[in-house]
Parts: sequence; C-alpha cells; structure tokens
Amino acid sequence: MKVLAILYKGGKAAKEEPRLLGTVENELGIRQFLESQGHEYIVSDSKDGPDSVFQKHIVDAEILITTPFHPGYLTAELFEKAKKLKVCVTAGVGSDHIDLNAAVKHGAQVLEVTGSNVVSVAEHVVLSILLLVKNFIPAHEMIERGDWQVSDVARNAFDLEGKVVGTIGAGRIGYRVLQRLVPFDCKELLYYDYAPLPEAAAKALNARRVEDLKDFVSQCDVITVNCPLHEGTKGLINADLLKHFKKGAWLVNTARGAICDKDAVAEALKSGQLRGYAGDVWNVQPAPRDHVWRTAKNPLGGGNGMVPHYSGTTLDAQERYANGTKSIIENYFAGKPQEPANIIIGVGKYETKAYGQR
Ligand code: NAI
Repeated sequence: MKVLAILYKGGKAAKEEPRLLGTVENELGIRQFLESQGHEYIVSDSKDGPDSVFQKHIVDAEILITTPFHPGYLTAELFEKAKKLKVCVTAGVGSDHIDLNAAVKHGAQVLEVTGSNVVSVAEHVVLSILLLVKNFIPAHEMIERGDWQVSDVARNAFDLEGKVVGTIGAGRIGYRVLQRLVPFDCKELLYYDYAPLPEAAAKALNARRVEDLKDFVSQCDVITVNCPLHEGTKGLINADLLKHFKKGAWLVNTARGAICDKDAVAEALKSGQLRGYAGDVWNVQPAPRDHVWRTAKNPLGGGNGMVPHYSGTTLDAQERYANGTKSIIENYFAGKPQEPANIIIGVGKYETKAYGQR
C-alpha cells in the first residue's frame, strides 16, 4: 500500500539533529518499519498546486500523514480524487487542515496523536503571556541595540499577579495553561467553552466558566485561545469582538491563526486596544514575508510576541508524535481498534466533541 507523508523541510538542522523527526529528512523515523512490510512510503514537503507531490500521490495513497506545522490542505475537491484513502493521520494535534465533513462523506478516518504536544503548547502559552505582560521583547531588543533606558520599557511592564486570565477552550491545552497559572496568584482564572469542565477539575483551579463570549472577553486582562479551528471558531476574534475586550488587554493565540481575523487583530494592536499579541499560528503557513503579524506593534513600539509555528514541535513533542503516528499505523495494519481519544473522525462520523456542537 502507499503511505504518503507531507512534512516540513528540515534542511541542515534536520541532518545534524536526528531528533527532528517531523521533517522530510527524518521521515518520522518510520521508513524501515513501512518498507520492511512491503509498503511504499512517499515523503515530501511539496504540498500546493496540482503538480505538487501531495496532489500527485493522493490519488492512490491509502494512508496520508500530515502535520499541522506544514499543513497539506486536504480539501473536499481533493477528497474526490483520493479514491483509495482510508486513514488520515495528523502527526501532532489539530486536524483542521483536513476537510472533516468531506472525510465523513468519504468514509475516511481522521486520527490525531492526541495529547502528544499539549504540555509543549501550554508551556509556550505561559511563556507568551509573561513576555507580553512584562514587555520582555522590547527590553531585550534595547540591550542588543546597546541602549539602556529603563523607563522606556518599564512604562509598559506589569505583573501577572492580580490580573484576570481567561482561556477560550478549556480542553487539554486550555486546562493545562490554567493549571500552570495557579501559582501566579491571578485575580481570577476564567474559561469559555461549550463543554463545562468536570466540577472537581474546575474546583481544583478555582476556575469560573463564563457562558457569553462578549461578557467573557470584557472581564479578561489576558486571553489565551485554545480551541480547535472549525466552522464555529473561524474568525471568532474579529473587529466586533475586539471592541468588547478590555482596553489594553493581551491576546495569545497558539490554537490556529484563522481563529483571529488577521487585519482586525493588527489594527487593534496598532490602536492600543490590544497591548500585545503573541502566538505561533498563522492564517497561512508558511506566513508570507510581508504578513502584518510579523511586524505589527502597539503604540509604544512593543507587544509583538509572534514566532513560527513551533510550540508543539519541541524535540520532546516530536518523539511523542512520531511514536504515536507509528502506533496508529500499526493498529490499522493489524485491524486493532484505535485509542478512542485519537479518533477525530471515525468511519462516516465525528467521534470528537471538540470540533463544534453538532
Ligand atoms: P481538546 O480537544 O482537548 O480541547 C479543545 C477544547 O476546545 C474542547 O474543550 C472544546 O469543547 C473547546 N471548543 C471547541 N469549540 C469551541 C468554541 N467555539 N468555543 C469555546 N471552546 C470551544 O484540544 P487540545 O489538545 O487542547 O488542542 C486545542 C487546539 O490547539 C488544537 O485543536 C490545535 O488547533 C491547537 N494546537 C496547537 C499546537 C501548536 O503547535 N501551536 C499544537 C497542538 C494543538
């Protein structure tokens, strides 16, 4: 059978560092496993346009492996051509680059390595919150420039203690973010999610659920986005919602770029409605060189904590999602049931409750 993997190019780094498993060079470490069983394994980063390796081989691949870090977009149109496709495996977490409704229609399963990088992301969120609140990046840039003017950076630096922090989405990542914030003595920890946390879990963090989104954002000093991208979250943070944010709030989005309206967020940062925006996910990946999120700043010249999409691909995470990808494929070959938590789309139906209420 043909197994097709669309991964990101790792270049020199991947040749020098074999633990960069999610790259084209290191192939998730599964070539020998697949070939020893007589399967064909095609690996490439070429994913866009009709001449791409992705579109050429999707027509007869039975297993597709993709990664959110360099998403091969499996559209409804491509599903029509993918006549043999049975299983889409996301090496990581977040399968919005697959048209999930089309997967249901075509009876293809979509599986993720659930939980594989949730700690990696939660740690990155805490880092991003702190670097925005503390105005860290402009302070470091000042040092590299050779300057020393404490007041220029201290004028926009605060403490996290006493602030209200809220997460949109209180699943594996959102919950872990709140857990990690407990020792910071925030004024309150809030969450917005259609699925309420189990009572004991909410109580353990003293986290309060707010059911109305506008009401929720109006109470938060810091908002972190930790829900999947689906029909109900695309463009959720737009110009209208941003008006309901507290003036000068900080926003961290490590979930998916398209949950935020690109221009509305950039405008809010420039006007000072947002004091800072940080995250690693972009509405298009790789982000174009002139993407406004690369350079947008608040009126005092700081507040930008954007990085490339890497929070969930630390070397520790890569080991976990490479192993998890292999286990999913082993189960498929052996006809064994998959771990229920890994199943986003089962044959002909949504198994997850996290991709919108239906
Ligand atoms: P999860 O499935 O454990 O939790 C998602 C939560 O979001 C669920 O509780 C769900 O009810 C909630 N949710 C869904 N729609 C919502 C809405 N409209 N409003 C409020 N809450 C909503 O997923 P997990 O593991 O926490 O991951 C969340 C997302 O984070 C992934 O889907 C992915 O997009 C992103 N992610 C990003 C990574 C990165 O490297 N930047 C790595 C891993 C995940």
